[in-house]
Amino acid sequence: MCGIVGYVGEKNAESILLNGLRKLEYRGYDSAGVAIINKKGEMNLAKSKGRLANLEDKLKQNPLEGSVGIGHTRWATHGEPSDLNCHPHTNQKKTISVVHNGIIENYLELKEYLISKGYEFYSETDTEVIPNLIDYYYKGNLLEAVMEATSKIEGSYALGITSVDEPGKVVAVRKDSPLIVGIGKGEYFIASDVPAILNHTRDVVYLNDKEFVEMTKEEISFYSKEGKKLEKDIHHVTWNADAAEKGGFEHFMIKEIHEQPRAIRDTMASRIIPGKPISIDNIALTKEQIKNIEKIYIVACGTAYHAGIIGKYVIEKMARIPVEVDIASEFRYRDPIFSDKTLLIVMSQSGETADTLAALREAKAKGVRVVAITNVVGSSVSREADDVLYTWAGPEIAVASTKAYTTQLITMYILGLFFAQNKNTMTSAEIEDIKNSMLTLPEKAEEILKQKEVLQKFAENTYMHKDMFFLGRGIDYAVAMEGALKVKEISYIHSEAYAGGELKHGTIALIEKGTIVIALATQNDLYEKMLSNVREVTTRGAKVLGLTVEGNNSIEKTVDSALYVPQVNSVLLPVITVISLQLLAYYIAAAKGCDIDKPRNLAKSVTVE
Ligand code: M6R
Repeated sequence: MCGIVGYVGEKNAESILLNGLRKLEYRGYDSAGVAIINKKGEMNLAKSKGRLANLEDKLKQNPLEGSVGIGHTRWATHGEPSDLNCHPHTNQKKTISVVHNGIIENYLELKEYLISKGYEFYSETDTEVIPNLIDYYYKGNLLEAVMEATSKIEGSYALGITSVDEPGKVVAVRKDSPLIVGIGKGEYFIASDVPAILNHTRDVVYLNDKEFVEMTKEEISFYSKEGKKLEKDIHHVTWNADAAEKGGFEHFMIKEIHEQPRAIRDTMASRIIPGKPISIDNIALTKEQIKNIEKIYIVACGTAYHAGIIGKYVIEKMARIPVEVDIASEFRYRDPIFSDKTLLIVMSQSGETADTLAALREAKAKGVRVVAITNVVGSSVSREADDVLYTWAGPEIAVASTKAYTTQLITMYILGLFFAQNKNTMTSAEIEDIKNSMLTLPEKAEEILKQKEVLQKFAENTYMHKDMFFLGRGIDYAVAMEGALKVKEISYIHSEAYAGGELKHGTIALIEKGTIVIALATQNDLYEKMLSNVREVTTRGAKVLGLTVEGNNSIEKTVDSALYVPQVNSVLLPVITVISLQLLAYYIAAAKGCDIDKPRNLAKSVTVE
């Protein structure tokens, strides 16, 4: 779970690599390093524990010359964050350097073998076996040595490799970790993700598993693992570099929260059009196949899993198909029951989450059709699934997911309606009604963004608390889970979500004078029941922020402060409600002075198990 970059061309590699790593820090940020080959063919390394800024300071003191290099920003798996464990790693002779994202599962075995051949190791990482293994196989052709070495490696990897024996070259390969190649004029790039190279080119090639690239400033070639030359398509990226910047906001998270009206609109575009049937590009499921589905699994992690729980409510309600929602890391090991009438939906912002990808592969291996919902075009899940439904949220940089969640909800509504349309479980008028309501969501989301003051005030009065409880019933309970996750991951306050009716079965023992409770009561059919649950906690001294829809002013008699969300079809309310909770979490973390975009111990994209 790291970010890698590489460059060959005529420009100063150091600044290009640092600029790329800055855009990849969301993938890991406990140490960073570069290896650059100068005009004399010498390879120089600079590494530093901690944020990229430390490496930048080091390089300001001692800049590295050269126009060929690789760089890395790390999120530790094997070996603590330290200068020694920081990438790039080299072979013992320091002629080959490697940056790696992933995990080498058989590294101990390989290490023992190499030690028996006289190699010495200095770090605690799994990665250090790679440059030594390449060295072991090197017989005058770097690409061939990399091919030979990777054929012995088990696990996941995206690798960037340079060698002083072939100084004008970068070789790269991927398996189960993302890697893209940027095509410039007289220059080429590799990177874990597109924003790292957008300042230089928008033309990219997506590498498939076990595909190799060899690049010099004059030419670039792609190879299969058998060494066969490949013709790869070049894709033109439509995001501009600015879309990946903060755009005047203090943090990416708050910028991304504010991007939601646009993101929601984009995700609906061309799919939700009044008077026209729902159409979904890249979904080839036929009416017959949809009618045949008897069971759907939605599998995801973290925030995407929470969107999946809403998906269950939505698909069951609209299309009357039973849905089970699973955490990917549990699903893959629990031997789920599949039949030819099962559909698997995997949901992943990055499209690279290791557990989600493994669940997809497990299901596919058993002949189950897989629909992927992802935000990243060309990501692993999008390439491996049978059908893909993209969320058009744009790049999400903040570790805490916001616009990815709301756009995932939109795709759940689109799928629910699409299935209902094909199964005739809803009338055209009912479908039209929800579609029209969906089309008002962007403006409703804009209204919520104006709640800043009341949420900021509540945050300033609560940020010093150690615990926080979120309550909700039905669909509100699912939103409460996402609200609690947002608070805990960026402000480190222990926060939990409970179903309102479940409180009295244990959790209520935790409520005491001054306990902070955020109660969601947006669903009219459950409103009175929810207020009863709120009374249960206020009686015991809790301080409650109640969140309901406009018009339900009676809530003010029960809670300490009330917040209103605009009226919209009740099944769509999570899209609006969650934005209040995202803002609340953001202002709590800001009041506490937390590092909002890079919360401790977390990485944006979890590409290891
Ligand atoms: O890229 P994915 O959607 O597969 O990521 C899944 C989770 O790792 C992610 O949602 C995580 O929970 C976020 N930090 C939540 O804000």
